[in-house]
Amino acid sequence: MKFAHGARLIGVGAGLPSAVVTNFDLEKLVDTSDEWIKTRTGISERRIASDEETTSQLAIAAAKDAIAFAGIDPNEIELVVVATSTPDNLYPSTACMVQAAVGAKRAAAFDMEAACTGIVYALAVAQQFIGSGTFKCALVIGVDIHSRFLNWADRNTCILFGDGAGAFILQADDKENEMLGTYLRADGSGGHLLHIPNTGSAYPHAGVVPPQATHGFLEMNGKAIYEFAVNAVPEAVRAACSDAGIGVEDVDFLIPHQANMRIIKSAAERLGMGPEKIISNVNEMGNTSAASIPLAMWAAIRKGQISEGSTCALVGFGGGLTWGAAIVKWTAVDQRKTASDQISTNKKVEASKS
Ligand code: COA
Repeated sequence: MKFAHGARLIGVGAGLPSAVVTNFDLEKLVDTSDEWIKTRTGISERRIASDEETTSQLAIAAAKDAIAFAGIDPNEIELVVVATSTPDNLYPSTACMVQAAVGAKRAAAFDMEAACTGIVYALAVAQQFIGSGTFKCALVIGVDIHSRFLNWADRNTCILFGDGAGAFILQADDKENEMLGTYLRADGSGGHLLHIPNTGSAYPHAGVVPPQATHGFLEMNGKAIYEFAVNAVPEAVRAACSDAGIGVEDVDFLIPHQANMRIIKSAAERLGMGPEKIISNVNEMGNTSAASIPLAMWAAIRKGQISEGSTCALVGFGGGLTWGAAIVKWTAVDQRKTASDQISTNKKVEASKS
């Protein structure tokens, strides 16, 4: 083990907007069709935040869900890391808002940004703090509301994205290390291929208060990003497996960033992984950016698709450009289920006594 202390994932959670927007709804906005979107991307519907739903609210919902899954006291959390490109405001950070809302009174909190790869970067950062012995329990969240930055008249981009939050709880474990390996990369020379211009301090508003012009929208070179992704995913998975000291064939499940089913299938094929190893919910969530990997894992765990003891390759790619992977062994048990199993067992025992 490279680190002095082991780490394991003990919880996963989700925070989703309530509104579902289908491909048929989008047919009313832009010149597209359900068939085109499904064939080219695998997406049927996505969740879109209402004007009242914010990034911090989704992140807080995911955090509470993950805390309940893990069955921990929020006071145990010593670090909150939120990966997001779409915070409520430049500051306070989303992480600080989550820290206060969940009552993680002993925690340090900060945001970090690596676009859709953010959750993999955030997990790797949390592992560093836990591995070094600095902290024993971290809440790691990926959250984005890209819908606020989409041009809803641009069919090339608006059909792809959804909103949401996914959270993990990472805990120190000195008996077993289950964060087996990681790999992180960036190539800033490709930044222009996927960006949201005019949204930061490079966009001075010339003293006009409030600024008169609206902010920019997400812009993307779809073909270039597609090419980048189908190479980046296999590279990251192979390198993270090598860091973990395992072969790609030892991975039970590929949990990729949910951008496009064609990208996912093509990358899996390049890795020699069959469809039974692919975890995907892109059909019902679209691309939820930093939230997509934990949301896909959360859905698969709820369905019983990922069983205890599975080795999972979490792999992200996105703006920056950034890409990376984490090899994780999943052995956590939903503490809520354990509690309700216990209650139903107790009821059965009482019934048999009477
Ligand atoms: N509905 C209908 N037609 C559409 C359309 C839509 N929503 N979007 C594009 N088209 C049209 C194009 O205008 C083009 O028409 P033309 O041939 O008359 O010019 C045609 O469909 C084919 O477009 P093309 O861009 O070649 O499609 P594609 O097969 O490359 O698929 C993407 C486009 C965006 C789905 C694909 O490139 C992709 O997924 N790229 C990666 C994007 C991504 O994952 N970004 C986030 C990364 S984190």
